[in-house]
Amino acid sequence: MTHPARAARLLWLAGAMLAAAPAAAQEPEFDANPEPQTAYRSKQAVMGRHFMAVTAHPLATEAAYRVLDRGGSAVDAAIAAQMMLGLVEPQSSGLGGGAFMLYYDAARGRVTVFDGRETAPAAATADRFMQDARPMPFADAVDSGKSVGVPGVLRALELAHERHGKLPWPSLFDDAIDRARRGFPVSPRLAALLRGNRRLAAQPAARAYFFHADGSPRREGEVLRNPELARTLAQVARGGGDAFYRGPLAQAMVQAVRSHPRPGDLSGADLAGYAARERDALCRPYRVYVACGAPPPSSGGLAVLQMLALLDHTPIGAAEPVSAAAVHYFSEAGRLAYADRDRYVADPAFVDVPVRALLDPAYLARRSALIAADRSMGKAAPGEPVPGALARRGVDDTPALPSTTHVSIVDADGNAVAMTSTIEQAFGSKLFVGGFLLNNELTDFALSPVDGRGVPVANRVEGGKRPRSTMAPTIVLRADASGPRLRLVVGSPGGSAIANYVAQTLVANLAWGLDIQSAIDLPHYGSRNRATELESGTSVEGLVPALRAMGHPVALQPFPSGLHGVEILSNGLLRAGADPRREGTALGR
Ligand code: DON
Repeated sequence: MTHPARAARLLWLAGAMLAAAPAAAQEPEFDANPEPQTAYRSKQAVMGRHFMAVTAHPLATEAAYRVLDRGGSAVDAAIAAQMMLGLVEPQSSGLGGGAFMLYYDAARGRVTVFDGRETAPAAATADRFMQDARPMPFADAVDSGKSVGVPGVLRALELAHERHGKLPWPSLFDDAIDRARRGFPVSPRLAALLRGNRRLAAQPAARAYFFHADGSPRREGEVLRNPELARTLAQVARGGGDAFYRGPLAQAMVQAVRSHPRPGDLSGADLAGYAARERDALCRPYRVYVACGAPPPSSGGLAVLQMLALLDHTPIGAAEPVSAAAVHYFSEAGRLAYADRDRYVADPAFVDVPVRALLDPAYLARRSALIAADRSMGKAAPGEPVPGALARRGVDDTPALPSTTHVSIVDADGNAVAMTSTIEQAFGSKLFVGGFLLNNELTDFALSPVDGRGVPVANRVEGGKRPRSTMAPTIVLRADASGPRLRLVVGSPGGSAIANYVAQTLVANLAWGLDIQSAIDLPHYGSRNRATELESGTSVEGLVPALRAMGHPVALQPFPSGLHGVEILSNGLLRAGADPRREGTALGR
């Protein structure tokens, strides 16, 4: 029997596919989400000796560079980059969203995590996205006040700055404030996402900013000013997080959420009470390295570390990067990791996530035995990392679809930041307040609180809970005689595909020895425990017959990752790569 949540999502996905179909007779109903296929632009690796920044937009990369050049720390530079990204890449992230930041402290040789994930309002209940005992259409859940979580990115940046900032907080906002006042040229990608975006245009505040008076969208190259954001940023520069989480801005956010035709229940108390969390990174050995990621409520770090460990039991290291063997082993490892993710991962403040057991080498050795050399397993069942675990957890197959951004930075002291930041879908909930968009992160919860068997799912909505993420900012260290040293900083947007993008890049760089740019350039492939997915229009398409012969259910599709990475060579030089599928750049000195 088809699970109703899944049926709703399938319907929605079918709608999204229709939206992408060429020559549609009429404008599609839901057209906000599909990633524009902006041209694939080959990029060269960028070298530096002292510091490096890689972000999704040249103006944000330059803002980070200037901070690093003034002697700022990696955290300082990440703050400047984030403020600029909220302006110039508003579809992806901003003050209205959340983030996971990994920080490498060179002096201590330690990686920590700043968790700025959104929380559900205290009033939220498990049936939030249910309608007549069924999950509401996904697009309606997204475009509503119900999808808006308490934004977390600013409190996370503030906490990180308290711990690791060097330059004064207000100075980190200067570039973004100046740009917001003077304006920035609309990028091809932003322009493409605006075209025909009726759901965004349906929100009056967003419409006034992103569209002309005649209803046509802002065009590529057109200079867009955001004086409202300049004012918001100036307030936050002066008053810190409190200027955002209390007072008029907070009231305006509450008002916007509550006055949506599908209203939400965000309150002033939710905003005032939000706290970012500092967490231990999840770190596990991989070959001669130690790979570190963000723990739950993100599933990304766990899935990436599981995949690396599973793959270590296979001969993938000897395979060609674009070969049936590489795709086979990588996809099978993905199936096993995503099966566990879908079953077990949620906010650890609400659900006991068996993290240690899921990463236990003996457990992963047992799981890896399910990978055959010549035959796909098809659909993987979740494992049972602790006895009885399976019976207690329902299946949750919540999708996550495009927007989001990743920043990788190394400063002159060798500290590093890997931060993935998001408002979830492109343009989030479409609610535009104070010059920024509010997230729709709460649709990262399972829409239905129970699975098809009626078993509660770990990632169901609860008041104050953080929705499960797949964001996987990653930092890799290598052990030296003198202690740990930074080896790689990387991450990507891409919704539930993020773990696959990041794991593939790690295997390519660390096991196959590709430089970071070549690793990022590789055609994407993998499985989220559904089809074996291959990036369309790339050389990997040639592997379809061989994979089908091995029993792989193959699907071709675009994979617009936004991988941004910095690798540290053995001579200490920094080499950076930016994803050719998006608009990012690297700059270092
Ligand atoms: O937290 C997550 O995993 C998602 N909200 C991220 C969304 C995303 O990456 C969209 N991607 N392109």
